[in-house]
Amino acid sequence: MRIAMIGTGYVGLVSGACFADFGHTVTCIDKDAGKIERLHQGIMPIFEPGLDRLVETNVAGGRLSFAVDGAEAIKAADAVFIAVGTPSRRGDGHADLSFVYAVAREVAELMDGFTVVVTKSTVPVGTGDEIERIIREIRPDADFAVVSNPEFLREGAAIDDFKRPDRVVVGVEDDRARAVMAEIYRPLNLNESPLLYVGRRTSELIKYAANAFLALKITFINEMADLCEAVDANVQQVARGIGLDNRIGSKFLHAGPGYGGSCFPKDTLALVRTASDAGTPVRLVETTVAVNDARKKAMAGRVEKALDGELKNKTIAVLGLTFKPNTDDMRDAPSLDVIPALIAAGATVQAFDPEGMHEAGKMLTGVDFKEDPYAAITGADVVVILTEWDQFRALDLDKVKLLLKTPIVVDLRNVYRPDDMRARGFKYTSIGRA
Ligand code: UDX
Repeated sequence: MRIAMIGTGYVGLVSGACFADFGHTVTCIDKDAGKIERLHQGIMPIFEPGLDRLVETNVAGGRLSFAVDGAEAIKAADAVFIAVGTPSRRGDGHADLSFVYAVAREVAELMDGFTVVVTKSTVPVGTGDEIERIIREIRPDADFAVVSNPEFLREGAAIDDFKRPDRVVVGVEDDRARAVMAEIYRPLNLNESPLLYVGRRTSELIKYAANAFLALKITFINEMADLCEAVDANVQQVARGIGLDNRIGSKFLHAGPGYGGSCFPKDTLALVRTASDAGTPVRLVETTVAVNDARKKAMAGRVEKALDGELKNKTIAVLGLTFKPNTDDMRDAPSLDVIPALIAAGATVQAFDPEGMHEAGKMLTGVDFKEDPYAAITGADVVVILTEWDQFRALDLDKVKLLLKTPIVVDLRNVYRPDDMRARGFKYTSIGRA
């Protein structure tokens, strides 16, 4: 199949490279000439494990190419995927679809022969209908079908998620388009990764429902963690105790500082807006959004408590800035709430993150970024573990204790064991473990 992938952000680039690796001929298109030029040189715009090699192999194999001007690729394409951003619109929280619709207009002008137009970006219910209307208006003669095919990729594990998905959801109303989608995903092992054909609007909603449910699950265990602290129970054991019930499932029950990232915050908000516009408010999701926002804001208070109520003139070592490990993505990361609150209270922050410091430097002011975790810890009054990067799991704790002014650790990801940390002489607080 010939595929044009429009938008080489996180989703577009990973999807394009993986489709090429399946054996399809893929052109990844982006307006950002600098980004395309760097991709030609093999420089990835994002950090995603394995992506650079995947791109290199498929470019060398002649299956993957990059372009600023997508005209040729769109004309030749069996399927054009739209993978541009759908950020939260300022003010109302609705998904901003201006980029998606602009691409639809461009594609309308260029498409040639039967073309399947696929939304990969997360788009609200009804967006496919609007794309169809836009294209039909510009090119009444065009032979095309619009399909919804949401992604469920976790950053940091995106390539594996793409190649071995739990399921692939295809929202399609047209038989020819369905055949094209079946051909595109033919390389998957369909025993392990079923293709789920549903209506287009249903497919659009599945994506939001999945993310909202996961956000709800995290928020639930976070509230249980607070309760555990109050009643002297252990949230990890609660999570295991409920998670072994297959109806609940053990994943996504790690208590922490609140979810962040490029998807959950924006998608839960967009779902809330869609539902309230439709006259059927989703109160559980509304509450999830509010509880999670408040939680991220409350985390600085835990550091303050560990320092006996005094943040002024304290030096705080923050380990981990990205919203989760194995990514350089800072979008809606808890660090963006925690660190400004600490600084506003008069503390000095020394921070380290393996991949996120470049991005963090653009979003946080007044932070002293350090070259490794020990440099961040040196002379600090407390260490705060904010993202569970593997390298923070095996810190030399004797060295940490020597470098700290006072041996206090606030572990917001439950990386360490309370009994062990206390035996080593730390004043240690974590999440949901009294
Ligand atoms: C998520 C979805 O998993 C994916 O299917 C969707 O397409 C995009 O959004 P991603 O944003 O990469 O993927 O992150 P994920 O690994 O799901 O984690 C999201 C956030 O939840 C992180 O901030 C993480 O720290 C937090 N989280 C996750 C918890 O606090 N506890 C958990 O148990 C799981």
